[in-house]
Amino acid sequence: MTKIFAHRGSAGTHPENTMIAFYEAERVGADGIELDVQLTKDGQIVVIHDETIDRTTDGTGWVKDFTYRELQQFNAVYKFADQYDVCRIPLLEEVLAWICSTTLLLNIELKNSLIAYETLEQKVIDMIRHYGLEDRIILSSFNHNSMALCRSLAPNIETALLYMESLYDPWKYVRVMRADGLHPYHRTVTEPFVRQARHYQIAIRPFTINQEPLMEKMFQYGVDAIFTDYPRNAKNIRENK
Ligand code: G3P
Ligand code: CA
Repeated sequence: MTKIFAHRGSAGTHPENTMIAFYEAERVGADGIELDVQLTKDGQIVVIHDETIDRTTDGTGWVKDFTYRELQQFNAVYKFADQYDVCRIPLLEEVLAWICSTTLLLNIELKNSLIAYETLEQKVIDMIRHYGLEDRIILSSFNHNSMALCRSLAPNIETALLYMESLYDPWKYVRVMRADGLHPYHRTVTEPFVRQARHYQIAIRPFTINQEPLMEKMFQYGVDAIFTDYPRNAKNIRENK
């Protein structure tokens, strides 16, 4: 059965990449959560999609130029200010501690394509090991070299390659990069592609599947999982299929 990963939590209905959005994802019965991580000035792993805080908080500037403590002064309610007073940018550690009390899977996307956070891979892996969550985590990134590094640092943690355009010979590429899965932009995903992936035992998890007809199509193709901002809708569709 195709799994449902709540993209940035339940980003269509709650402030993205915040604990409120993650709690909602669990409440509506998502199988997993997807989130994004960056490093602060003082080397803390924080959960935020953009390299800057401008779009999703009431502050401005680069994540890498703030300490974690400084980041806590900003409100990350984003476009949901009419529903929530305050929420903060979480640490990855807070999310992992909470995940331990659930049965959720977790996809941690390392946001290291624009900024080369030198120690990000090792820090994330150390944190996963600290909580013993190796078998419930998938690491992913648009930076494929970073995923190859993660594979060598932690052979027992699943890795996946994110991409927007079609890959030339994806099955050979994924083997060379020693990854376990592909996370493609949904437009590149066809039924034969999913069939081939199954043959090569490569997991396919397309993003970001928000329209209901597209959800139906991906469930019909039998992809391993979808990422969606609307996990509750996706669950309804999957259950009434
Ligand atoms: O991991 C799937 C998806 O989140 C990748 O794109 O920009 O939403 O992080 P983005
Ligand atoms: Ca992401």
